[in-house]
Amino acid sequence: MKTNIGISDKHLIRSAGLLSEILSDEMILYVKTRKFHWNVSGESFLELHKLFESQYKQMELSIDLVAERMGKLGQKTPGTMEEFLQLGSLKESPGKYATSKDMLKELLLDHENLVVVLRRSVSQIAGKINDAGTADFLTGLMEDHESTAWVLRRYQE
Ligand SMILES: [Fe+2]
Repeated sequence: MKTNIGISDKHLIRSAGLLSEILSDEMILYVKTRKFHWNVSGESFLELHKLFESQYKQMELSIDLVAERMGKLGQKTPGTMEEFLQLGSLKESPGKYATSKDMLKELLLDHENLVVVLRRSVSQIAGKINDAGTADFLTGLMEDHESTAWVLRRYQE
C-alpha cells in the first residue's frame, strides 16, 4: 500500500536514497571496526579490543534503525555487501593489518567523514525534501558519530 505521510513520492525516494548511502557507510565501518577488534595487538590490546567492541555494538543498533527508517518511507533496503560497497563512500583495506595507532587514526577519519555525510544529508532532508522525522533521526546519529570521533581523537597526539 502507498505510503501517505505528507511527503511526495519523489522526495520519499530521495530521502531513502540518502539513507541507503548512510546505511552502506555504517555497514562498511561496522565491519572494519570488527576487523580491528579481532586483530588489534600491542600494549593497549585489551583496552582497544573492548573499545572497538563497544563501538561496533553501538553501530549495530544504529544500522538497524537506519535500515528500518527506509522501510518507514515505503522503500526497499539494500542488504548485500556488493551494494554497500557501491553505495558507500568509506573504503576497506583487504589483506592489510594496521598497527593499533593506525587503526585509531583510520577509525577517526571514517567517523569524521560519516559526520560530514550526515550533516550534508540532514540539511538536504530538512530543507527541500521536508522529511522532519528522518532529519531528526539523522541529527541524533550524527551526534553519536561526533562522540565516537571525540573519543578516538583523544588517542591522537
Ligand atoms: Fe569479540
